[in-house]
Amino acid sequence: MTPTYLVTGGAGFIGSNFILHLLRAHDDVRVVNVDALTYAGNLENLTSVEGDARYAFRQADIRDAEAMTALFAEFDPAYVVNFAAESHVDRSIADPGVFESTNVGGTVNLLNVARAVWERSDGTFGDHRYLQVSTDEVYGSLPLDEPDALFTEGTPLSPHSPYSASKASADLFVRAYGDTYGLPVLVTRCSNNYGPYQFPEKLIPLMIRNALRHEALPVYGDGLNVRDWLYVEDHCRAIDLVLREGRVGEVYNVGGHNERSNIQIVRTIVERVSEAVDDPAIDDSLIAFVTDRKGHDRRYGISPEKIRAELGWAPETPFDEGIARTIDWYLANPEWVERVTSGAYQDYYERMYGDRGTAGN
Ligand code: NAD
Ligand code: TYD
Repeated sequence: MTPTYLVTGGAGFIGSNFILHLLRAHDDVRVVNVDALTYAGNLENLTSVEGDARYAFRQADIRDAEAMTALFAEFDPAYVVNFAAESHVDRSIADPGVFESTNVGGTVNLLNVARAVWERSDGTFGDHRYLQVSTDEVYGSLPLDEPDALFTEGTPLSPHSPYSASKASADLFVRAYGDTYGLPVLVTRCSNNYGPYQFPEKLIPLMIRNALRHEALPVYGDGLNVRDWLYVEDHCRAIDLVLREGRVGEVYNVGGHNERSNIQIVRTIVERVSEAVDDPAIDDSLIAFVTDRKGHDRRYGISPEKIRAELGWAPETPFDEGIARTIDWYLANPEWVERVTSGAYQDYYERMYGDRGTAGN
């Protein structure tokens, strides 16, 4: 039988890449994109598949029980993949409430609906699967002076930001529904993604956009915080693999051993963008060290050993290639950037960066 994926948050960065991936990777598939279309959701990411008979979009909020129940009835999904979330740490520091409501409340609502619709009279759930797209940020922060220390699936959860606290809470609820009701759940915890369609509030697309505009490149604190970067398509492959072949009830870390400091990333972007558009005015003098993020996690580093050993997953896109593809995509799609950064983005930028002093002040 043709499997139907109900993908929440499919108009966002990773969700839209995941839908494009599914439709490329499988002929025999149906994909339903359920998205509330917040500031981060953009249907333009999916114009190439709009006319595809295998694909449908419904605008709805994962917190809305009635709407979710109706969607389950309409599409009878075999799989639910929950990407829908508020996803930006800086916004969570400024306004935590919606992170609790969407990331925790929305997830619990989806779990309740999945359970109510999928559970048979004998308490079993057949071949259904619910996959929660969690994050490595639930583990908290690693020190810089222990480079061999990595997050494994057994690392205790110790989130610091309102964003990561809400994701950790959702992650725990998902596993509680597995343990308590036998709901067939899976959790992936991935490191930082980059690639096409990422909203320019996140480090890499923000720096590409600002560099092209000759605007300051705001590096928080000393710029030595480390993130473990994975090309988005590699994450999408991992999610589909875990859904189809992962062991129910398990957590899988996803990452590519590609740790870099923020300042390294920003310098790479400056160099590559300057070269790509042949503009020597794009140089390191644009870099501005600004006041650090509150509670800024120092380092994330993930061990993907379990998904490699159990499911044979490995990243396929080396960073050099991924960053070149990403920069090329932003250069080729200035209208996309223009549209998503007009209007409300200006207010956001002013609020986040307007009165941010220089680092150390
Ligand atoms: P994003 O902000 O680009 O997209 C989120 C999407 O969810 C948007 O389309 C938005 O409209 C939608 N959404 C928000 N609230 C909703 C609601 N109440 N109901 C329905 N839809 C709603 O985020 P992203 O970077 O694509 O991240 C997707 C998921 O992956 C998130 O759960 C995030 O925590 C997780 N994740 C992200 C990264 C990363 O580096 N970006 C890494 C690991 C895990
Ligand atoms: P971000 O892309 O927001 O992802 P996350 O906080 O989820 O890891 O930020 C990545 C890193 O870049 C993080 O250490 C914060 C830093 N950063 C800056 O230095 N300047 C910026 O303008 C932004 C958005 C992030």
